[in-house]
Amino acid sequence: MAKMGTSSRVAAAIVVVLGFVLSLAVVCNGGKTSSFVRKVEKTVDMPLDSDVFKVPPGYNAPQQVHITQGDQLGKALIVSWVTVEEPGSNTVLYWSAYSKKQKSEGKVTTYKFYNYTSGYIHHTTIRNLKFNTKYYYVVGIGHTERQFWFITPPEVGPDVPYTFGLIGDLGQSFDSNKTLTHYELNPQKGQAVLFVGDLSYADNYPNHDNVRWDTWGRFTERSVAYQPWIWTAGNHEIDFAPELGETKPFKPYTHRYHVPYKASGSTAPFWYSVKRASAYIIVLSSYSAYGKYTPQYKWLEQELPKVNRSETPWLIVLMHSPWYNSYNYHYMEGETMRVMYEPWFVKYKVDVVFAGHVHAYERSERISNVAYNIVNGICIPVKDQSAPVYITIGDGGNLEGLATNMTEPQPAYSAYREASFGHATFDIKNRTHAYYGWHRNQDGYAVTVDSMWFFNRYYHPVDDSTSAQ
Ligand SMILES: *[C@@H]1O[C@H](CO)[C@@H](O)[C@H](O)[C@H]1NC(C)=O
Ligand SMILES: *[C@@H]1O[C@H](CO)[C@@H](O)[C@H](O)[C@H]1NC(C)=O
Ligand SMILES: *[C@@H]1O[C@H](CO)[C@@H](O)[C@H](O)[C@H]1NC(C)=O
Ligand SMILES: *[C@@H]1O[C@H](CO)[C@@H](O)[C@H](O)[C@H]1NC(C)=O
Ligand SMILES: *[C@@H]1O[C@H](CO)[C@@H](O)[C@H](O)[C@H]1NC(C)=O
Ligand SMILES: [Fe+2]
Repeated sequence: MAKMGTSSRVAAAIVVVLGFVLSLAVVCNGGKTSSFVRKVEKTVDMPLDSDVFKVPPGYNAPQQVHITQGDQLGKALIVSWVTVEEPGSNTVLYWSAYSKKQKSEGKVTTYKFYNYTSGYIHHTTIRNLKFNTKYYYVVGIGHTERQFWFITPPEVGPDVPYTFGLIGDLGQSFDSNKTLTHYELNPQKGQAVLFVGDLSYADNYPNHDNVRWDTWGRFTERSVAYQPWIWTAGNHEIDFAPELGETKPFKPYTHRYHVPYKASGSTAPFWYSVKRASAYIIVLSSYSAYGKYTPQYKWLEQELPKVNRSETPWLIVLMHSPWYNSYNYHYMEGETMRVMYEPWFVKYKVDVVFAGHVHAYERSERISNVAYNIVNGICIPVKDQSAPVYITIGDGGNLEGLATNMTEPQPAYSAYREASFGHATFDIKNRTHAYYGWHRNQDGYAVTVDSMWFFNRYYHPVDDSTSAQ
């Protein structure tokens, strides 16, 4: 190496010191990286003969029963199920303690994927339900009937309490089963699940073996037949496999899981919105075009001004790929979408963004990074009380295992991160307060490891940061 002159050595030292000071300003005061380390064990899928995959007995018995919201207001519900021997009936019979038995008719569909042929997939929408009412319903009419129940949400209004569960990247491993069990037994009692994408992970099997979509449907039935799960599409829903002659993206997902996208003026099932109690939930697609002039962009541009915070104070966004993620997995995959939409999230004061994709847990401070304009160099996330909190909850427990490798040091915008499987709940109390809690699978059902009181950005926009100031 050539010898440096004194002056250039001083200059180099100044650059190093400056760089250090700058990097301190950028990366110090990071939040907490949990020291919890779980027992090292491989995440493996439950075998096909597991109890949770059992086919219900009886000729043509409905299986994989699942429900989701069926309109924008919560007065309709989509009931879906699969029959195997023959199409059978598309009828759902339903009633409440206050109404006589009614019937609703739906449709049946099938699809092929490589050498797999699906069962008969039924989707029936029930409309004009009464709010806040328990209904019983029966499917499988004419052959083997199975009965379930659900409770409709309360009428939309600013102070209506409601508890959402949060699950992502679930899959069908032994850990997935633990996550679902912890959600079911959490005393916080989630009333509907906001699912942030990546459902079955069937595409990890040879030929994307769609039998693993069926097993996932049977596994999750014990929850989703009784309470709606609001769906978000993840990368494992794409199933784009030209090597198998399968070139229509999202084929299994769109045949099996219907969402009420038309009710919110959307033109595709990958982005849509629903109102539920005091929340307005916007679902976005990380895997559909989102650039300027695209259908998703135009929809979101028109959608955000429609949110009436006097009616639904809580504005929640779901997407699969996180915008703020300090793990060394899927690093910056959400960046291009962040660049497109983050100014809107700040302008419209989104309360919280839930994403998955990274198989771990992370919660951010309220930060934004919208000042950069190519030439001004202002590209560091800053604290911003108009910005949402970003939560990565991709820790459902799928067979791909945990993301454990984190960027170091923890960036300032990251409030808490931990590589454990688990789920969370978002418990809205009224127009100003919501209690959020994250649960890891190794703890008791009632234990929250990371929690935060959310102050609503419209009615109570004061600093709700959990970090020591
Ligand atoms: C599909 O093809 C694979 C091999 O290419 C084979 O192992 C499997 O049994 C086939 N499945 C069906 C339903 O034919
Ligand atoms: C899954 O969890 C349920 C509820 O805890 C339990 O009954 C069942 O045996 C578990 N199945 C497997 C395969 O772990
Ligand atoms: C917003 O909702 C409130 C409460 O329901 C209602 O009074 C008001 O008219 C709505 N505003 C708009 C612009 O629709
Ligand atoms: C963690 O990720 C970084 C960046 O991708 C890589 O350089 C490093 O080797 C990884 N560490 C481990 C232990 O895998
Ligand atoms: C809203 O809920 C919070 C938390 O439960 C409570 O402290 C507050 O008093 C409530 N606000 C109103 C107006 O009831
Ligand atoms: Fe993913």
